Amino acid sequence: METVVSGIRSTGKLHLGNYYGAVQNFVKMQNQYNCYFFIADFHSLTTHPTPANLHGNVKQVLVEYLACGLNPEKATLYVQSDVPEIAELYLYLNMNAYLGELERSTSFKDKIRNNPENVNAGLLTYPVLMAADILIHHATKVPVGKDQEQHLEMSRTFGNRFNNLYQTNYFKEPFAFNFTQNLVKIPGLDGNGKMGKSEGENNAIYLSDTPEIIRKKVMKALTDAGPTQQNQTKPPEIQNLFDLMKVVSTSDTLQHFEQLYQTCQIRYGDFKKQLAEDMVLATAPIREKIIDIAADTVYLQKVTQLGAAKARESASKTINEVREIIGFRAF
Ligand code: TRP
Repeated sequence: METVVSGIRSTGKLHLGNYYGAVQNFVKMQNQYNCYFFIADFHSLTTHPTPANLHGNVKQVLVEYLACGLNPEKATLYVQSDVPEIAELYLYLNMNAYLGELERSTSFKDKIRNNPENVNAGLLTYPVLMAADILIHHATKVPVGKDQEQHLEMSRTFGNRFNNLYQTNYFKEPFAFNFTQNLVKIPGLDGNGKMGKSEGENNAIYLSDTPEIIRKKVMKALTDAGPTQQNQTKPPEIQNLFDLMKVVSTSDTLQHFEQLYQTCQIRYGDFKKQLAEDMVLATAPIREKIIDIAADTVYLQKVTQLGAAKARESASKTINEVREIIGFRAF
């Protein structure tokens, strides 16, 4: 069975766009592949050296993924900092990562442009740590978006370079993995592209949002003056709301409002009210699980200990072999 590895950023609550995109794919993948999913808390230090609430953020991400259906019995679900072997492999890979290639990484250039006061070595070697995350489990498939392509290419470079240097074929090449071809597009509420893309308060619906917050955000969503001609094409902010309705509502409901729009009879107030109620319904079971799991410390302990044990089993095997290949030996 092929091995999948993916790192989850430890900052940021899940929104509907994450849920209907990456997260549901993870839930399906865990049935078909040997999956390692981890919360990338080492990585977070590259940009947030003293995060106000590191543990709380990690917990929230973990709780939300569990609530969405990640199954710790099927996938290996762990916190990166629970697996020190990753840091050791990162050290070895750093010895063969060149300053020039690291400086050329687009994500590094973006990050130093956005935050010139903290250009640290961890930021520079972020792609090396990511390579260590992947190579430590010999993963070949990495479900990430387009923005991570360059990092994956660097992971292949570092793995291949190790192989060449030590005359082995120890590390496999990891590639970006599109689990589904046609990802559902979840637009934001502000008419500005994908959900989560812009930072606006009301752009995203989070899985942890209460029904009141969901209603408030949806009612505030941008609309226009309404259609004036039959069968008129919808402007982007209206099309976005219809796209969202397609995801959370029944097809009857969708058709009903589609019809009202085409005949210029739509009332956006009613339309948004329906959309909000269907979002509340669609997210209710997850919201309940988030609350239950967050309160269950014993369960979270069990999950993280099991995850760490499984991840370390695989990681320590790799580290022992890598030490042997490099030439560290006991007397
Ligand atoms: N860089 C990834 C992101 O920003 C997170 C990540 C860290 C990752 N290590 C990884 C993803 C290993 C896949 C595999 O989203």
